[in-house]
Amino acid sequence: MKKIAVLTSGGDAPGMNACIRSVVLTAQRYGIDVIGYLHGYNGPLKQEYIDLNASDVANIIQRGGTVLHSARCLEFKTDEAAKTAAANLDELGVEALLVIGGDGSFRGAAHLANFWSGQVIGLPGTIDNDIYGSDATIGFYTAVETAVSSIDKVRDTADAFERVFLIEVMGRNAGFIGLAAAVASSADHILLPELFRTSDDEMQNIMNHLLCARERHGNNSYIVVVTENIWPGGVTALADELSKKSGSESRPVILGHVQRGGSPVTQDRLLATKLGAFAVEAALAGETNIMVGEQDMQVVTVPLEKTWKKQKALDPYLVKVATDLFDETKIRT
Ligand code: ADP
Ligand code: F6P
Repeated sequence: MKKIAVLTSGGDAPGMNACIRSVVLTAQRYGIDVIGYLHGYNGPLKQEYIDLNASDVANIIQRGGTVLHSARCLEFKTDEAAKTAAANLDELGVEALLVIGGDGSFRGAAHLANFWSGQVIGLPGTIDNDIYGSDATIGFYTAVETAVSSIDKVRDTADAFERVFLIEVMGRNAGFIGLAAAVASSADHILLPELFRTSDDEMQNIMNHLLCARERHGNNSYIVVVTENIWPGGVTALADELSKKSGSESRPVILGHVQRGGSPVTQDRLLATKLGAFAVEAALAGETNIMVGEQDMQVVTVPLEKTWKKQKALDPYLVKVATDLFDETKIRT
């Protein structure tokens, strides 16, 4: 094997740079040249790339974002675009394409594989942690850390004013960030897509819970962590509704893209470094149409299609802790 390419696609995640670094250093060790395609799938489509050597990846392990930039390239869903990319990859003599991204980016890799004879390998890079086949995804731990430290700060002002706060976290359609951040910041209540019933049921539930908490502890602060995309109108609408129904002053906070930024925490750097190296070794072993992941601390390969066809479940015991064992309404006095 003489040449491979790497790109980052979809929502960027802290640790993507650490992963690019690991790919380049490992490839160098095996005498393989690396090019980095820029702006997600726009790179292979428009032949936008840079050569990547060890000196290019020095001092990037600690940087958030991605030095290759990321993008959502809708045109890549067409057959014509995949054929153009395949021809461009062949023109440069690329034998394997490593795609760091989420499940959408993996669908893109599988789409390309229909038209290209080279190898495609996915590396799970998204803050959402919603990819089947890897216990964690690159960026998840940092996003949770950012959410937790932000919620801690909101708690200070919530305590001062004895207010209710509804805090929206990212996750797209998955509750991994919400669950972890809520438990680690001792939030009083959570709304997760995996457990969501109807808005009416959930509103009733919050009201019961808030009432119970206030009866037991007086007018303390009260924090609800809400995963994005589940409440109609988002946390702003939820705060308005709750203020009116409960008579308690409620404020919305949307954490937003701050969760995607910042220096990756150690766990993300380690995961990114392991998976970057393993992806190059998998390419050398002739693997294709797979994702590299980590399960029970061991690196594994998973058929690419499985990563989006199968749904990854929340940790059931953490769910029990959050929604049962620590639930005010279920604690006997
Ligand atoms: P993520 O990888 O974070 O899940 P997206 O779902 O936005 O992000 O997908 C990232 C990119 O992957 C898209 O903008 C597109 O370029 C490519 N992609 C997604 N789905 C497909 C598909 N079915 N066919 C081809 N390319 C796709
Ligand atoms: O997939 C990562 C993610 O940050 C999701 O959590 C969020 O729903 C989405 O991307 C936001 O996308 P955009 O950057 O296009 O607003």
